[in-house]
Amino acid sequence: MGNSVTVFGRYPATRPRRNRRDGWTRRMVSESRLGPQDLIWPVFFIEARHKSEPVPSMPGVYRHTIDRLLPAVREAVDLGIPAVALFPALDAERKTPDAREATNPDNLVCRAVKAVKDRFGESLGVICDVALDPFNSDGHDGLVVDGRVVNDRTVEVLCQQALVQAEAGCDINAPSDMMDGRVGAVRRALDEAGHAGVRLMSYSAKYASAFYGPFRDAVGTADALSGDKKTYQMDPANTDEALREVGMDIEEGADMVMVKPGLPYLDVIQRVKSTFGVPVFAYQVSGEYAMVQAAADRGWLDADRVVLESLLGFRRAGADGVLTYNALHAARLLQEHG
Ligand code: PBG
Repeated sequence: MGNSVTVFGRYPATRPRRNRRDGWTRRMVSESRLGPQDLIWPVFFIEARHKSEPVPSMPGVYRHTIDRLLPAVREAVDLGIPAVALFPALDAERKTPDAREATNPDNLVCRAVKAVKDRFGESLGVICDVALDPFNSDGHDGLVVDGRVVNDRTVEVLCQQALVQAEAGCDINAPSDMMDGRVGAVRRALDEAGHAGVRLMSYSAKYASAFYGPFRDAVGTADALSGDKKTYQMDPANTDEALREVGMDIEEGADMVMVKPGLPYLDVIQRVKSTFGVPVFAYQVSGEYAMVQAAADRGWLDADRVVLESLLGFRRAGADGVLTYNALHAARLLQEHG
């Protein structure tokens, strides 16, 4: 029976508390580890210069202009964080129904990629979302035609978008749009253009979640979005479907896969990791960040401890790393506490 439990010992000869008695034994038997190398930092940025705007629904998170972003990224590098994920917040007048700014080689993302790679080179990986929502006046990740998000025409634009990002020096393209077939199409487009070294981190199991609310405030897509994203993002009720999405993405050339959101989907992370054994990343999303901050601001939770405990939970579930707005905070804590 799958539920049977092997008996490893019996009280009083066996006393599990003995191994918990002192800090040093607890360290000896701890099963999961969390370090700065497990953290990826998502950052928001805007046009102009010398400006930093707080994101109201994400206390402690800012939208920086590129010149202000660089010192913040310097701190991430110094703390041992291996990569950042770049999210542009465009001025509203740059957004169009055809999301054409997504494929402009001199757009805000490409300029940020160049600035970060020029400054930090090999010491930091740069991840770019492949999806149209920051550029699309409809707020959707794909093109809207007659009220529907169309698949194959979107995929063509996503390939162009991935190419301009790769040309700018992006190390990892992260398709977050959930269109069918996009991973294979982007892989082929990159290979044909001589970018075989650009890695793909696919948002393979991305759910239609209420936890993305603060992110949409941060990149300015909340007001634009008409309807929801349920025709492309997954139903929170499903896990078999997540395995199928991941399996397809691996076949299409994904080097790493992602499960998103994070804490409510730990079971999905565990199944993906045990089924496929590929690098699996979790995205601890904006709503998860906001919840902890809100409770901590009221003195209801100890943010330092909750942040580390939640991140450790992802490691326990099998995640190789976590995209988290808490990356700097957590890395500083890990440095202080060894
Ligand atoms: C959009 C995208 C979203 C996030 C990352 N990329 C939002 C969405 O799908 O609406 C969410 C991240 C977060 O909530 O922190 N392609």
